[in-house]
Parts: sequence; structure tokens; C-alpha cells
Amino acid sequence: MTERPRLLPVLGPAGHAGRDAMTCLYRCGNACEHPIPNRSGNPSLTDVVTTGVSRRGVMLAGAAAAGGALVLSNIAAEPAAAAAVDPREMMPLEPGTPAGALSFKPIPPNKLDSLVVPNGYDSAVVIRWGDPVVPGAPGLDVTKQTAARQSKQFGYNNDFVGVLPINQRRALLVVNHEYTNEELIFPGFTSLDAMTVEQIEVAMAAHGLSVVEIERVGDTGQWRPATKGALPYNKRITALATRFELTGPAAGHDLLRTAADPRGRTVIGTLNNCSGGVTPWGTVLSGEENFNQYFVGGDGAPEALKPSLARYGIPTTARYPSGSRKWERAQERFDLAKHPNEAHRFGWVVEVDPFEPLAKPRKHTALGRLKHEGANVIVAKSGHVVAYMGDDERFDYLYKFVSDKKYRPKDRRHNLTLLESGTLYVAKVTGDSPAAEIDGTGKLPTDGAFDGTGQWIKLVSGDRSFVPGMTAAEVLIRTRLAGDAVGATKMDRPEDVQPSLKTGKIYAAMTNNTNRAVGTNPGVDEANPRSANKHGHIFEITEDQGDHTGTTFTWALPIVCGDPADPSTYFAGFDKSKVSPISCPDNVAFDSAGNLWISTDGNALGSNDGLFATPIEGSDKGHLRQFLTVPTGAETCGPFVTGDDRSVFAAVQHPGEITGASQQNPASTWPDGDFAKPAVVVSWRLDGGPVGS
Ligand code: FEO
Ligand code: CA
Ligand code: CA
Repeated sequence: MTERPRLLPVLGPAGHAGRDAMTCLYRCGNACEHPIPNRSGNPSLTDVVTTGVSRRGVMLAGAAAAGGALVLSNIAAEPAAAAAVDPREMMPLEPGTPAGALSFKPIPPNKLDSLVVPNGYDSAVVIRWGDPVVPGAPGLDVTKQTAARQSKQFGYNNDFVGVLPINQRRALLVVNHEYTNEELIFPGFTSLDAMTVEQIEVAMAAHGLSVVEIERVGDTGQWRPATKGALPYNKRITALATRFELTGPAAGHDLLRTAADPRGRTVIGTLNNCSGGVTPWGTVLSGEENFNQYFVGGDGAPEALKPSLARYGIPTTARYPSGSRKWERAQERFDLAKHPNEAHRFGWVVEVDPFEPLAKPRKHTALGRLKHEGANVIVAKSGHVVAYMGDDERFDYLYKFVSDKKYRPKDRRHNLTLLESGTLYVAKVTGDSPAAEIDGTGKLPTDGAFDGTGQWIKLVSGDRSFVPGMTAAEVLIRTRLAGDAVGATKMDRPEDVQPSLKTGKIYAAMTNNTNRAVGTNPGVDEANPRSANKHGHIFEITEDQGDHTGTTFTWALPIVCGDPADPSTYFAGFDKSKVSPISCPDNVAFDSAGNLWISTDGNALGSNDGLFATPIEGSDKGHLRQFLTVPTGAETCGPFVTGDDRSVFAAVQHPGEITGASQQNPASTWPDGDFAKPAVVVSWRLDGGPVGS
């Protein structure tokens, strides 16, 4: 075929950290160019305990015990339990050879326009943007695209990936579609202002989630869309048309009522679904993240609402500047001057039951409203379920939710109500080294670790508020302001947060924060120890006594990212000459051996984004290796290691998103050789063995 003109990635104007400017515009509405939404005066981490005694060693046994009990998971293979539970309750795949010590040969950083995996592995596209999802859907034809067609096809910019087994050969693939890039979707695109209403509705239909039944290919670790049968589970959830039920204490509140929904209980659509998690009862949680960028008219909203709108990044002093998605041209509700409460109906954790195609997806107000990256659940020793969550914004917070009710094995109807009532906490952390030893360079303090203690501060429990001056519903709807009021710790963009079911410890990706300690912004602290943090770090939480429902914990930074040759990096003390460079950790996952898998967004070291794996216990802790890289302009999302350890799924998001690119002049031709298409991929070992080891 004819060689198409290609844009060199270096031609794209630099965005923020390692992102391209085009990604900044479409992904988050140039959030970095807007004022930092958190202007609260609450301290960062300042109360320094100077004993220097680490409590981590004491905590390990308790946490390990927690990991061993009551935990059914997407990755823990527990065949004995599987036969006894509702088949929809995460029947695990039969364990193959369990993953053990990681031994794959890491791939080098590169800038190739292809998916690269280690020697001995293969990879394939599972499904890409525009592929049919609903039976009978047409394939992608960009010259004929309509909202009706897109509503039946796989959406754009896949992010979270969950794989929920039906049996050993079939599974449900559940995927978030975070955002659209109209310049790469529509041939001949000129400007957002020139888009037709039909095109705006195509974009709305390309947002949301997809549920796709997949099947194993032969006896390999490869999976593809199921080709036979009625495919009753296949469906699309969109921003355009899908109705969501609001649950929990804030459902029906005045602040959630609109002209279209005077009861405040039903929302059309979900926005900017980023990461998520699979629950032990076989549903998927999905985080509504940068919802603010879809709204205009904050300047015309009632004065009383403006402070909280601004705290969520919605400009309130002028009509929304460039970066607006222009959706108000298709649906008036996106204009806050006319419908100011509509913004309150986004920013929630969404729960989707992929096994009940007719069930209305829900937005759980009990888990608070923020720029939810995602939510991941663990069953505590007590039986309560605990969801860990990050608010992905510079200087925002980490949260957890503890359910009122207890998990009941085999009682799915009951378990589906667990996230409707409970207690919401925000994290406040303290370093154990003197503040003077945290100098912003990344140099370890004299006790040899960035570590300390933390508290979960109660914000709201059921309909009782613990924040002076705010009702329970206000705490849930304006959760960021509640965090401000109680002095939560300002973190470096908390993204995916996930408990290890092996140890019970929790791992959170702090992607980056180039504003840390810059100008009048908050300075460094032991939990966010680098000034102008370009490369991010991993934050590890160990709940005291291994009790996930408790209110105290210890923490440490096992990995401080960047080029290993850079003295500001740290890989749990492992020999840095043997580790792969990593920048901007975003999503985390585990294999059944408990190895931590980390995907990146916005590599600020100049090579393509990728997926990495590292042990997080034992003598190999911190031995981080690069498992794959994604094509030009893309970030790596997902990831998901199946319960049999035979397959690694990842989402290739925004390939070819380089400023100046278009369909006619693509910066990436992955995966089909014509123009870039976001896609979910799977990688597996050619010899059928466990991935990674
Ligand atoms: Fe959608 Fe926080 O990345
Ligand atoms: Ca320390
Ligand atoms: Ca993310």
C-alpha cells in the first residue's frame, strides 16, 4: 500500500509532563493551564514525628492474614470456592502454573509505532474502536458514521479493562471509553465549533462503557470477541442515552434535581470513565473523572454554587475558554447557566452489572463525588467491603469507603447493595522523618525511606456528617470541600488505587505533579517528596492490624519513578542498574503471585508509554521490568492479568494523538496500517506458561 505521510512525534508541541498538547486538550480540557482547583489552606504533610521508628515490620503479618481470608477476586484463583458460588460471582479461571518470580527479559524503551512485547510472547488486538459490539452492528466506516452506528460499536479511547469469566473458555470483557478526540475520529475535521449536532452525538455515543463476550483462542492465552451464539450480554453504555440510577444518601437531593429529572434520581449518561475495578460479586466499578470539561456557563450559575463548581475545575468567572467539548450545542443541559445542577450528576463511581444486561447501571453517591480515577474493592476480615479511591488532580486526595453491610458469599442480590450505604474517609498522612530532611531532590532521609503513618478521617457515615457546616448530602456532593475542611493531605495526582489480595497492602499511583513546590504552591512533604515531580511515584498503604475498616495505617514509597540513573529515583533499594526506566505511573494491577503491574501515562523520559511489572515483597522487591510498550502517541491503560495468569490485557488509549495529526495525516497507523484506532490488546506466552515468569 502507499506510504502515508507521517508526522514525527517530536513535531507535536509539548503538553504537560510527557503528554502531547492534543492529549491535554481532549483528555482533561487543558487542566494544567487552569488554576489548581485546590486552593484550600489545609496543611500538606507537616506534623513530623521524629522518632524515626518504622512500624511497617510489625504490620506485615496482620496484613498478610487479611489477604488470606474472605477474598474472592479477579486474580485469586480459588477453584474450591468457585463451585459453591453463584457462577456470576467471579468464577475464577482454573489456575495454570501460577505466576512466580518475574523472569521475562525486559523490553527496552522505544518510540516504535507498534505494540512491543518481550521475546517468547505474542500479542493481538482483541477489539478496536468501531468494531461491532451489539449483534448486527455495522463495522467502522468513518465516512458513514452516525450516533446510531456508534451506539452499537466499540467506543473510543478505551481505558479500564476488566475480564469476568463465564467459564474456562468464555468471559465478559468490560471496558471504559474515557473520552473522544474529534480530530482523529472525523475525516476532514476542522474545528469543534464546526461540528454538526450529529457528530457531537457520535462523540457522546463513543463515550461510556462496552460489555463484550470474548472467547479463548484454542488453548492459548489469546482471547477474541465471541463469534457464536446470541451474545446476550453484549451492550454499549453511552453518554448519549443510557439511564443511570442514583443511589445512596444524596440521591434525590435538591442539588441533584434538574428540569429533566425533578426527582434527582435518574441521570442520562456517564462521562470520562477512566479506571475502575471488578468487585467480588462480579460487577464493574467505573470512575467518572474529568467531567468538568464537558460543561460551559459556570459564569452564569447561581453565585452560591460557584465556589464548589470552581473547586471541581469549572471556570466560573468567564464563559468556558477554549477546550469546551461544545456538547451544549447538542444538549442544553451541558450549559450550567441554564441547568446548574447538571454538573452535580457526574463525578461518581458507577457500578455496572455486566451479567444483567437489562439492569440499570447505578451511580453510588455514598462513595463521594470527585474526579474519580476508579475504585477497587477488598473484603475486610470483618466481612465489610472497602473501596479505595483516588481523586486525580494535582494536590487532591485519597479516599476509602467502608460498607455498612457485610459481604455474603453466594448472595448476589444482597452484595449488589453493598455500595449504597457506608462510611467515607479521606487520608491524612504524616512523615516519620524531620521535615528538613525532605529537600525536594528525592534524596532519601537518614532513616532510609520515605515513609510514615496515616489516618483515615471520617467525612460522612450514612446520613450523618462529620464535617462541621456541611450536611451529609453536601459532603457527598462536594466531597473535595469536605476533604479541604478536615485537612486531608494534598497528593501528587492520586490515580489508580488497588489492594493486593496477596498481602492486603494497598498501592496507589501518584502520576506526577510538576506544580509541587513551584511558586506559591504547596511544598514537598515526605509522601510527595520531589519538587516539580515529573515522573511520579507509588504510594503503599499498610492498614494497621491488617484491618481495612480501621482508621490508622502506615505508608511508604516503594518506587520513586524516573530514569534509574537519576539520583532522585528509588526502586525499593534494588540495584538500579538492573531496572527499567518508568515515568508517570497511572494504573495498577496484580497477578496471582502478587507481583505489581503498572501502566504509564505521559512518559516524560521521551519514549513510548508502557506496562511494567515488579515484585513488591522479598529480595526482588523493586526489580521493575518493562513488559510492553504501546504505539506512538498512546498511553497504556487497563491493565488486567487473568486469574489463570495466562493472559495480560491492556488498553491502548489515544494512539496517534500528536498535535497536527488527523485521519488523513496520521501520526500512528496502528493497528491496521491506515489511521490510528484505540484498542484493547492481549499478550500471552507462546509456550502457554504464566505471564511474567
Ligand atoms: Fe483518566 Fe486520571 O487518568
Ligand atoms: Ca522516613
Ligand atoms: Ca488514568
